[in-house]
Amino acid sequence: MADTARRIKSVEDSIRDTEEPEHRLKKNLSGLDLAVFGVGVIIGTGIFVLTGEVARTTAGPAVAISFVIAGVVCGLAAICYAEFASTVPVAGSAYTFSYATMGELVAWIIGWDLVLELALGAATVSVGWSGYLNQLLGDLGIPLPTSIAGETATVNIPAIFIALLMTAVLVLGIKLSSRVTSVIVAIKVAIVLLVIVLGLFYLTADNYTPFVPPAEPAAEGEGGWHAPLIQLLGFTQGSFGWGGVIAGASIVFFAFIGFDIVATAAEETKNPRKDLPRGIIGSLLICTLLYVAVSLVVVGMQPYSELSTSAPLAEAFSSVGLSFVSSVISLGALAGLTSVVMILMLGQSRVLFAMSRDHLLPPAMATVHPRYGTPYKISIGTGIFVALLAGFLPLGTLAELVNIGTLFAFVLVSIAVIVLRRTRPDLHRAFRVPLVPFVPILSAVACVYLMLNLPADTWVRFAVWMALGFVIYYAYGRRHSRLAGAEGEAAAVRAAADREARRSVR
Ligand code: ALA
Repeated sequence: MADTARRIKSVEDSIRDTEEPEHRLKKNLSGLDLAVFGVGVIIGTGIFVLTGEVARTTAGPAVAISFVIAGVVCGLAAICYAEFASTVPVAGSAYTFSYATMGELVAWIIGWDLVLELALGAATVSVGWSGYLNQLLGDLGIPLPTSIAGETATVNIPAIFIALLMTAVLVLGIKLSSRVTSVIVAIKVAIVLLVIVLGLFYLTADNYTPFVPPAEPAAEGEGGWHAPLIQLLGFTQGSFGWGGVIAGASIVFFAFIGFDIVATAAEETKNPRKDLPRGIIGSLLICTLLYVAVSLVVVGMQPYSELSTSAPLAEAFSSVGLSFVSSVISLGALAGLTSVVMILMLGQSRVLFAMSRDHLLPPAMATVHPRYGTPYKISIGTGIFVALLAGFLPLGTLAELVNIGTLFAFVLVSIAVIVLRRTRPDLHRAFRVPLVPFVPILSAVACVYLMLNLPADTWVRFAVWMALGFVIYYAYGRRHSRLAGAEGEAAAVRAAADREARRSVR
């Protein structure tokens, strides 16, 4: 059993699979398209909603430092993703990377874990979209009843609507998706720049003091099981103080999720070895700069204790008497969240595509549409799943589940960089992480540290989800895997031939 779980799908086999006619995706994305995709999915609920919440309850004006910390952690992970994506340019991202390095079980676990990031993330942002829509409709004097829209809805109709609409766009083809995204991303970036530039004229110096408000001790039951450890390290868990700044970083981490999704479009990229690292690192860099600037401006416009927890950017402008600007920001946020939902669902469908192509999920799911060239069955399945989650579940605490799942994937990708350097030093790496193994280890440790700052119940939910994944793997994937049986033997023969060829080259 242990051996089958550790079977590795070679890098050569992964690349070979992408050439099979019935599984081939269209290659039409450029480096710029990728950067647009990245920014399109990164800027969203994190900056438009969480900034206010974290400043008000956890970090104070120092939320800008929380953004810097989360940005640095993501930067470390991003260079690990960049090396992998430039070496193994195959759809499936972290899933494919771990299949090539740490074996099938770890790959399955990662694929299963990515559902937390992608499908749950899309559902979370769909609920946020519904909230913003209702706020705009409210401005126009026609709000929807709270039973069918917004976070407290029984059936969240706008959230279901946006998830299904984005599904239709994805089924019609990635070129259309990337065009739609470009327009939306332009609007979103313009709105963020508007906040930064116009906001500069409305800053009040007093709002920056104290920059790091004094620590408030954690209330009974707050802080995770690791709280004593955090205290030992000299931090006070709870709100404010430096402990609050770090805890804030593990929440605003949500704002950075998405740069890794650029890697899932590898097979649809014209020149993946060059364009992927540029797309991943470029989009992360742009977003980090924008986030730090926006958060510094917003906490300067209003005292942190008065920031809105649902629409802080818009509200900051209302508070200085610019209601019109506030409505424009809400409209831009609505457009911005639309592209986040779409790209998270795109990433989810590509990961599931790679998993079913490997027969860890039923292979019939991986059929590509003859006309549109998209994995339509998976896209439709993903869309329905996201719509159901968004329509019927209260997703507040699930956002933390999205963070823990994503951080876990980052940890494994960081470790996998070191493993692949050892096991396959011969592979051509268009982009190389500097100072291996130091940088990947630092990346893994930093991600684990942010995970430790998430609440204990998030850990419990995470453990339950992962346990369910184990059961499904042993009940289905292990026996049906393409690497089991005759195909597996053929793959083993090819791997041996590849090894032999490499030996003779050396
Ligand atoms: N980074 C994305 C957002 O903030 C998921 O909405």
